Amino acid sequence: MSNAAETNLLLETLRETAHAALEDATALHPRLYRSQDIHQLELRNIFSRDWLCPGRAADIPEPGDYLTHSIVDQPIFVQRGNDDEIRAFANVCRHRMMKLLEGTGSCKRIVCPYHAWTYGLDGNLIGAPHMDRSKAFNKSKISLTPIRVDVWHGWIYVSLDPDAKPVSELLSDFPDFLDFYRMEDYVPVVTQDHVWQTNWKLLAENFIEGYHLPIAHRATVGAGYAADDIEFPENSFENFTLELFRKPPDAVVGNAHPDNTRLTGDWRNTSMLGVIFPCHLIVLAPDHLWYLSLRPKGVGEIHVRFGAALAPEVHATQSDPEAEREKMIALFDSVNAEDRFVVEGIFAGSGAPLTKPGPLSWLEHMLHDFAIYLDSRIGNGER
Ligand code: FES
Ligand SMILES: [Fe+2]
Repeated sequence: MSNAAETNLLLETLRETAHAALEDATALHPRLYRSQDIHQLELRNIFSRDWLCPGRAADIPEPGDYLTHSIVDQPIFVQRGNDDEIRAFANVCRHRMMKLLEGTGSCKRIVCPYHAWTYGLDGNLIGAPHMDRSKAFNKSKISLTPIRVDVWHGWIYVSLDPDAKPVSELLSDFPDFLDFYRMEDYVPVVTQDHVWQTNWKLLAENFIEGYHLPIAHRATVGAGYAADDIEFPENSFENFTLELFRKPPDAVVGNAHPDNTRLTGDWRNTSMLGVIFPCHLIVLAPDHLWYLSLRPKGVGEIHVRFGAALAPEVHATQSDPEAEREKMIALFDSVNAEDRFVVEGIFAGSGAPLTKPGPLSWLEHMLHDFAIYLDSRIGNGER
């Protein structure tokens, strides 16, 4: 079968899965996780267009603080300016294309490590040594290439699409309980970058189903996950999906701190598990949050950015913050290792010739929403 014929066939299977009722829905066709053509279509129609999350505004609290990320092949950095505005720029020097910044940090000006062209926090070139004899050089006409950036409930989003609607508009139908959690105030504890050997969709799907929690995470966060106490919103949404679940009072994490006056009643032990499409995956609990943000590195390899934060009253009342931080990192190292084990395992399974997609459980409701989203982005091939 030619590549084009195979891609069309795969997109047909995606459409069928997405349009089936949840009761009749199956997992996606295994080749959707393996095909180079589908991967290219996703890079074009999803990752070059939709909003992606490089981190939280709280990760760069002071003017000059920055973090780096990438959108498909475009390295970018996000930095807080002297006016407190968060800006994003192409992380490439306007002289001869050197990458400017690495990792995270803080600087009052951006100095290229190659020939020291220097940019202000607004992106404008403010200095370039030995350029006075170059007629082609006009300092006032050179600045870093801006990238679209938006902030929603404390999350930073970036996009290469000049026409992308603002995030707040795309997520305007997000339930208003976020106002009570105030996740924008959660205090960052850890951010890590990893590379896993899987397809990005497998990790996105893994994150948004609680079905595996009591099994794959029985040693960590799976304890106390009660399938009977899970709530899915009645409507489905175009740009995100979520579920709510409750933790028993003795659970290690997931209950509101006594000083938390924002959440009342059942909300005090309710967590949200969700995704802002395509791949910003969030668990928001009354006492903490954690998230993953995914970037495909190839069809079977992904960059995973992982971050965790604590509700402000939890952070403020810790008797030994460093020990607590170590404990939290150790817990999430274990959780991430448990997920890595399964998503690398299913990626291997997706390449096996006898693999066939099986039916979904009602607990995999959000996988069905994910299929609908995917179909909306790549179902018609070109957009
Ligand atoms: S490439 Fe940046 S100063 Fe030359
Ligand atoms: Fe998991």
